[in-house]
Amino acid sequence: MKFRIAPSILSADFGRLGEEVKAVIEGGADLIHFDVMDNHYVPNLTIGPPVCEGIRPYASVPIDVHLMIKPVDRIIPDFAKAGAGIISFHPEASDHIDRTIALIHEHGCKAGLVFNPATPLDYLDYTLDKLDLVLLMSVNPGFGGQKFIPSVLPKIREVRRRVDAAAKITGREVWVEVDGGVKVDNIAEIAAAGADTFVAGSAIFGTNDYSKTIADLRSRLPAQ
Ligand code: DX5
Ligand code: ZN
Repeated sequence: MKFRIAPSILSADFGRLGEEVKAVIEGGADLIHFDVMDNHYVPNLTIGPPVCEGIRPYASVPIDVHLMIKPVDRIIPDFAKAGAGIISFHPEASDHIDRTIALIHEHGCKAGLVFNPATPLDYLDYTLDKLDLVLLMSVNPGFGGQKFIPSVLPKIREVRRRVDAAAKITGREVWVEVDGGVKVDNIAEIAAAGADTFVAGSAIFGTNDYSKTIADLRSRLPAQ
């Protein structure tokens, strides 16, 4: 399995965002996780398409846009134009989930569906064949620096089971990404549960040496 580390720039220094993006990529980041919050779907307000466009020259890896906004559809073309490679959204925030997935694809991006800790996996029943990514929240969305919720581990196992079963039929690869409270000391058990893509915000940007921290995270993963 290929593992990916996706630093969340929510915990970066916003005054030096371009440099921060460059530094984590030099340190070995596979994706740049870009958290979009609207003070409506979640109780916090962050960054939008102009900032995505602003970091684009520094981002030599795909920008992984995590939309925590409601509604979602209006802004999707703007993010695609601003350089997003992946766009993920929460099913509760879209009135027409199938339409939103199609819209993301029409704009040339990979599409992901995001599950809050208490959101049932039923939303995968009629969507998995169209998704490129399943993003499991291991904290309630809205803030960086929260504690990993361990009850998400069996949920990761169940998603891995469904994704592998579907891949046997379709041959399509669907990434299983985990977001919230991922650290050097728990990334191994999250990987063992079946995740292949790991978002880490405070665990990376809260340290001085991003290269070393990303290498430490990777050292806890099975050999690739
Ligand atoms: C939370 C965000 C996360 C957050 C993760 O709502 O979606 O991406 O930045 O931060 P850490 O890794 O600090 O939990
Ligand atoms: Zn996120």
